[in-house]
Amino acid sequence: MYNKETELKLNDKSRILLKALRNQEREDPRNIVNDLRDVINYSDWRYYVKDEPVLADQEYDQLFAWLKVLEKENPALITPDSPTQRIAKGLTKEFPTVDHLVPMLSLDNSYNAEDLREWDRRCREFADVHHIEYCIEPKFDGAGISLIYENDILTRGATRGDGIQGEDITMNIKQIKSVPLSAKFSMLGVHQIEIRGEVLINKNKFKQFNDQRLAENLPPLANPRNAASGSLRMIDPQEVGKRGLEAFLYHTSYLDLQEGKIEPEALKTHYGTLKALSQLGFRTPVNIMKVVKGIDEVIAYCKDFEEKRDELPYEIDGLVVKVNEYALQDKMGMTTHHPRWAMAFKFKARQATSMLRRVEFQVGRTGTITPVAKIDPVPLSGVTVSSVSMFNEDVVREKDLRVGDTVIVERAGDVIPYIVKPLTDLRDGTEKMIIFPEKCPVCSDKLVKETGESAWRCVNINCEAQVVERLIHFGSKDAMDIRNLGEANVKRFYELKLLKDIPGIYQLDFEKIRELDGFGKKSIENLKTAIENSKHQPLHRLIYALGIRFVGETTAKTLAKSVHELMAMKGMNEESFMALEDIGPKVAGAIIQFFSNEDNIKMLHELKRLGVNTENISGQKTGSGELNGLTFLFTGTLSTMKRGDAEALVESKGGKIVSGVSSKLSYLVAGEEAGSKLEKAKKINAVKILSEKEFLEMIKE
Ligand code: IVH
Repeated sequence: MYNKETELKLNDKSRILLKALRNQEREDPRNIVNDLRDVINYSDWRYYVKDEPVLADQEYDQLFAWLKVLEKENPALITPDSPTQRIAKGLTKEFPTVDHLVPMLSLDNSYNAEDLREWDRRCREFADVHHIEYCIEPKFDGAGISLIYENDILTRGATRGDGIQGEDITMNIKQIKSVPLSAKFSMLGVHQIEIRGEVLINKNKFKQFNDQRLAENLPPLANPRNAASGSLRMIDPQEVGKRGLEAFLYHTSYLDLQEGKIEPEALKTHYGTLKALSQLGFRTPVNIMKVVKGIDEVIAYCKDFEEKRDELPYEIDGLVVKVNEYALQDKMGMTTHHPRWAMAFKFKARQATSMLRRVEFQVGRTGTITPVAKIDPVPLSGVTVSSVSMFNEDVVREKDLRVGDTVIVERAGDVIPYIVKPLTDLRDGTEKMIIFPEKCPVCSDKLVKETGESAWRCVNINCEAQVVERLIHFGSKDAMDIRNLGEANVKRFYELKLLKDIPGIYQLDFEKIRELDGFGKKSIENLKTAIENSKHQPLHRLIYALGIRFVGETTAKTLAKSVHELMAMKGMNEESFMALEDIGPKVAGAIIQFFSNEDNIKMLHELKRLGVNTENISGQKTGSGELNGLTFLFTGTLSTMKRGDAEALVESKGGKIVSGVSSKLSYLVAGEEAGSKLEKAKKINAVKILSEKEFLEMIKE
């Protein structure tokens, strides 16, 4: 659908439209709506499928708003595939059950080279050939979906359900912008088609989402898969839209040709089909898939890929190997459970079993009591796990966890480990119920549980555990990032009365610290530098570091952007907080409570006096837009700042962050151990490559 030529045309079209909009030219709407739709669809495709945006957010929003106005004034011009039709009205009352055109089967699983060889032997036997060409692609760990397009229009989106029937979630599917509302299947002679794929949430989005849940004292979702399938069934399509879901399409299960048409050559192989789907605007694994000649190559590729699984921006739990030729697939057929022509190669599980020995109750910085399971240490995706949070009493009761249980523990990627479930069959009657304390394990104050909350809390804000946790949080990596302070030092300084509150961090008596065991000249210097550097952290980090209830990193960023100076938040009321993105009454209430506390205000003045930045420095420069129109991509490890902060800096100056290397990329900033992206960028003349130092100099200028 999009090639160099059409892309050029669409770029022209968008320039013309933007100009017409600026000059307030009023043409016949009939001539404009189609152009607007073409440009918006193209921009969605570039942004959501190709990861290479073409329009600035503001330009996109303007064009979209224009289309909405024209359609409102001329309802007869609305088409079912207009991008405005993604906008949901109201809540979904129910998701009707629908039949799949073809049952959605499962996949057979293999775990090692032998399994794959045995499968290849059977394949060749069934297909009656000596050699088979295989395609290998990721096994996406998300939620299965089915899409139906009829006469080029998306008519239905459904969940997998039990494989025979699923739920109609069309409106929610329309919130996924990489799913086209229409696609030119007619060009291939196709009248109706059912395609299958997987809806995913990428790891970054998932982390952000869970950080916010944690800040709101909600148990985090266990893994991106649960987040994706949960999101797909939300009753508010607008909320679905906010989750940042992505859809990869990898299979056509049903195809009905227009009368008199014969199947096009492209649709005779799996690879050809995915390529065709990509050309029609879908996101498919075609660029990351591999076509190989025989099973030896399959095995080599699978082994190699497992090592790289964490490099992908989303979770995968294995690879899927498929016979490329459809003619051979048809010859092989399927069992009642799975097709014979496909095989999943499962990566090593990120689960382990262990014994739940005892439960500790930890007091968090906001007083929340968290039950933590102490388990027999087990190795799990590269680390040894011996403590697993159970979040709150509801989670413990729901999963019916008991001391003495054998439990399944999972840790996927960078996700915090969690207990999947107890193995109840292995119980022998000696397991003990988990009893929640009535008093704070640290200060002995009576614990309370507020209505609507799942967690018990110690409401004594001077509770030592809370004070220490607040100090630890303040200096932590995602907050003020005072690297050499750390949990152990905070606890030690606190016990020795060298540190009692947050401003105290900036008034530490280094003479006394020097006398402590383990503190040499070097470590003192490092600590001093880290503390000094933290004074210049951007405002959102300080806001997050303050540990205001329900204010996670995302909310902190929203808040920081809304003010020039921290203290300005003191004057804001509930209404003004709630006008900000994603801030509801609960969060607004917590912020107001924080700023109406005299001790907190005193602390903030004190921090300012000590030289801690309380201003929104990058925000003040927002208007300058020095990097307007430029795109950036960071790769490798940066040594002086976190990648997220570098990206925020670029965005604050009007630049855009993209995720792939292409000729549209202006700058690739290569940190240490930059890999394939750097190699790719070197081959493209248009891309300028900057070292971290060069980047910093450029930003300064
Ligand atoms: S093909 C008829 N390809 O894994 C076979 N499935 O465990 C259709 N899955 O139900 C499936 N990635 O939801 C296929 N690249 C991929 C996949 C994939 C993930 C899911 C799919 C399936 C489940 C089986």
